[in-house]
Amino acid sequence: MPSWPDVAPRHGRVVLREFEPGDVDMALDLATDPYVPLIGTLPAHADRDQASAWVEQQRRRLTEGVGFAFAIADHSTGKALGLIGLWLSGWPHGRASVGYSVAPLARRTGVATDALRALVDFAWTIPELFRLEAYIEPFNTPSQRVVRRAGFEVEGLLRSHQEIGGARRDLLLYSLIRLE
Ligand SMILES: CC(C)(COP(=O)(O)OP(=O)(O)OC[C@H]1O[C@@H](n2cnc3c(N)ncnc32)[C@H](O)[C@@H]1OP(=O)(O)O)[C@@H](O)C(=O)NCCC(=O)NCCS
Repeated sequence: MPSWPDVAPRHGRVVLREFEPGDVDMALDLATDPYVPLIGTLPAHADRDQASAWVEQQRRRLTEGVGFAFAIADHSTGKALGLIGLWLSGWPHGRASVGYSVAPLARRTGVATDALRALVDFAWTIPELFRLEAYIEPFNTPSQRVVRRAGFEVEGLLRSHQEIGGARRDLLLYSLIRLE
């Protein structure tokens, strides 16, 4: 398994860093989003204890072999703005998947786009990785804009690929390939 980067990945106004206990307020804001709890482990309308437990879970992700769970933070203030992950279940095959959520209070200012660019730059420093994937529901236009801005291309629609929110969902598969 790869190790945590020595230098925090950075792009534009964001830096990707380890989660800290103080990120609980960002998690509380994230938990107010109706969609985020459906695609991850943060309980809907989490209380402070649940949000704190979720932050701690992100801090264990790499040692548990799940992947890199970075807090997206404002590079000048350090304030957490969201989560971005480089998930490594495809690691033995040279693949990783990306996933991200930005706290509602921080949206529509380019945070996800900057964070994904920083994550991609970091991913390509890992020589064993050749392919990055993103799985996105067709309705999620903002997320598709994020991956396209980072250079991902759509490969197709995976029908009934995953259960989300109690229903089978189709997912668009986007990928980015190492070129050199
Ligand atoms: C998807 C999400 C991460 C986008 O985060 P963000 O920081 O607001 O995204 P950005 O500001 O970088 O915007 C990316 C693009 O989407 C557009 N966009 C963002 N939110 C939008 C909205 N609600 N409606 C329409 N367009 C939107 C932006 O204008 C921008 O377009 P551009 O590149 O053409 O300028 C955020 O909405 C979120 O966390 N959603 C819930 C969780 C989720 O869907 N995660 C992804 C699962 S695949």
